[in-house]
Amino acid sequence: MTFSELVRHRRSCRKFTDAPIPPETLRTILDDALTAPSSKNVRSTRFMVVGDPETLERISEMRDFGSSFVRGAKQAVVVLGDTQATDLWRENCAISATLLQLSAEAQGLGSCWVHVHGRPRLHDVPEGEQAEEYLARLLEVPEPLGILCVVALGYPAEPPRPHRERDDSDKIVYK
Ligand SMILES: Cc1cc2nc3c(=O)[nH]c(=O)nc-3n(C[C@H](O)[C@H](O)[C@H](O)COP(=O)(O)O)c2cc1C
Repeated sequence: MTFSELVRHRRSCRKFTDAPIPPETLRTILDDALTAPSSKNVRSTRFMVVGDPETLERISEMRDFGSSFVRGAKQAVVVLGDTQATDLWRENCAISATLLQLSAEAQGLGSCWVHVHGRPRLHDVPEGEQAEEYLARLLEVPEPLGILCVVALGYPAEPPRPHRERDDSDKIVYK
């Protein structure tokens, strides 16, 4: 598969089979993601890998909207950043998470980004407890790490739907 085919084939996957992810496959994905570029090469991104079904269930409860499917994932990778290393820790995390999703795709896995940073646990109570606070407590995330997102992983239960054909030329400007 060419790189172009790979990125076009990737879709967010929220339904997974029971098949376990071999540890060496998981390690390849994590190592690939850790090659991500980072501001001033600070390499501020960290990963916390969760496979315990009970903890996945607790993670799925971090928000009342958009995270429930995590309970069906085989693994969840919590994408963390060293907030003291750089003010661009979120950008660095986002690039790492994207590489992680693409590497997962190359390994035949499905994945989905579940957002954490800046999201309340309850959609209608934006000033209430934050998903990041909940997860940091649940997973005993040490200071000074911040959490950008969780990437849910597993073998897809159904084939991905192809991207809709669309003309994106209005999103590109040549000067
Ligand atoms: C920054 C970001 C936040 C996202 N947050 C969530 C989320 O909390 N829950 C979810 O189910 N999907 C989430 N997604 C996945 C998007 O919904 C998905 O990428 C988008 O609908 C495009 O679909 P595709 O990934 O299949 O191309 C997120 C994606 C990104 C990049």
